[in-house]
Amino acid sequence: MKNNKLELLQEKNKKALLGGGTNRIESQHAKGKLTARERITLLLDKGSFEEIGRLVEHRSTDFGLEKEIYPGDGVVTGFGRIDGRLVYVYSQDFTVFGGSLSETHAEKICKIMDLAVKNGAPIIGLNDSGGARIQEGVNSLGGYADIFYRNTKASGVVPQLSAIMGPCAGGAVYSPAITDFIIMVEQTSYMFVTGPNVVKTVTNEDVTAEELGGAASHAIRSGVTHLKAIDDLDCINQLKKLLSYIPQNSADLPFDMPYQGDDELRPKLNTIIPEDANKPYDMKEVIREISDKDSFFEIHAEYAENIVVGFARLGGKSIGIVANQPMSLAGVLDVKCSIKAARFVRFCDCFNIPLLVLVDVPGFLPGTDQEWNAIITNGAKLLYAFSDAVVPRITVITRKAYGGAYDVMNSKHIGADLNYAWPGAEIAVMGAKGASEIIFKREISQADDPKAKALEKEKEYADNFSNPYRAAARGFIDEVIEPSLTRKKLITGFAMLENKTENQPRRKHGNLPL
Ligand code: HXC
Repeated sequence: MKNNKLELLQEKNKKALLGGGTNRIESQHAKGKLTARERITLLLDKGSFEEIGRLVEHRSTDFGLEKEIYPGDGVVTGFGRIDGRLVYVYSQDFTVFGGSLSETHAEKICKIMDLAVKNGAPIIGLNDSGGARIQEGVNSLGGYADIFYRNTKASGVVPQLSAIMGPCAGGAVYSPAITDFIIMVEQTSYMFVTGPNVVKTVTNEDVTAEELGGAASHAIRSGVTHLKAIDDLDCINQLKKLLSYIPQNSADLPFDMPYQGDDELRPKLNTIIPEDANKPYDMKEVIREISDKDSFFEIHAEYAENIVVGFARLGGKSIGIVANQPMSLAGVLDVKCSIKAARFVRFCDCFNIPLLVLVDVPGFLPGTDQEWNAIITNGAKLLYAFSDAVVPRITVITRKAYGGAYDVMNSKHIGADLNYAWPGAEIAVMGAKGASEIIFKREISQADDPKAKALEKEKEYADNFSNPYRAAARGFIDEVIEPSLTRKKLITGFAMLENKTENQPRRKHGNLPL
């Protein structure tokens, strides 16, 4: 009798482990995709996975579904460890009804989300699903909404990471969209609200699934995905790397790496800015020079490249970096880059990750395209995000900080803790040429040699205002520093700010200009 009971358990487990069966597993592999369980095995520390709900079955009886029972119901859920850290994970099993979401499938996901929030640990979702289980109708829609609701309530409480490793269509895209980060696998995954067939019917556009919602489209055009991976393994490795910069929950601090402290001077930074103020240079080189070796992990690398955001380590400690990129659109602020950076600042602030802001910005991008796409509201998102952030915040102005963009880019006035400038910094309402042409217009036009006069006045303005010393004299800049000392100053500065506390006014929440 005892043996029969054991056999029954073993049989049930065996069936569950096979998901939709060997043929469907082979077909998953043939598409270049790993199975739900293989993905979990790669993601978690060896032997650490504990499954929850392996024997859950759907309750559907329509369309003959009562005869098609797969234990686990198309999603593998549970908890485990990554580098020893507790995480909760769900991994959709495409071999069972195409990973489609039933009422019970949703309940399993909700169960681990609830546990993650109660126990203060990240939630990682590996998505590979044909969307709502069509046979279940509104039960499935309700299941999705239960997940969306929990995603929202967990936002800013525990980190939520979404990997898109197969189809993700219809309303299913909205759970990943609410989470903190999305990573998509190239060629095998896509995300869209409606697929190519519906697009053709409604708008008469011919578009492939890959063009409409593949990893490249969302990494470059829409910015929906923060990262893209070449295959499942790369995706999982990137998830682990991303997690290494992030703490367990909003009450925790990020994890430190060991740091020797013997590499603080960076002479290369003294010559990184070109003599000609209009020449670009690569801000990512500055970032790499300032940060610990190989620690820079860029987010949204191909989207709105005029601003760079990402994580790095400074003296072993995790920081978030927001930096204007002179190599792209001269580092100007526009709609897309403001939204990108604002979202990143909000994430860092939720999870106690200090912010370093590197500034070389000529202003906001003018024009009808920007105005009609609401640069006012969208630029305000970044302004609001910085102003509202209570994590330690340090700014370094490497070159230009013009106009409103000076205010926005983590200026002293909106609550930055330490503001440094390099000696070549130009902190002014606008560039010397534009400024002198406006204020000395009459003098220049009435001069015997207007060209020479224009140059003379430009120089006069530059000598007076295109430097960091006016701002330093007012205390808006705390110190003008030699670039080679930047890393040292930042390590010391962030250490000084380690115990920063800032009381927030009592309110439900602010009203971010969405
Ligand atoms: C039930 C589904 C399913 C679904 C796929 N399957 N999607 N079963 N509900 N939504 C099943 C298939 O019947 C098939 O079963 C198996 O999964 C694999 O599907 P294939 O079509 O053979 O695979 P493939 O060719 O790779 O195509 C995958 C696919 C396609 C592109 C995802 O299956 C598809 O278009 N599915 C429907 C997508 C969809 O419209 N979903 C609803 C979106 S609306 P067998 O038994 O043959 O292996 C939505 C609303 C959510 O999600 C709203 C929330 C607010």
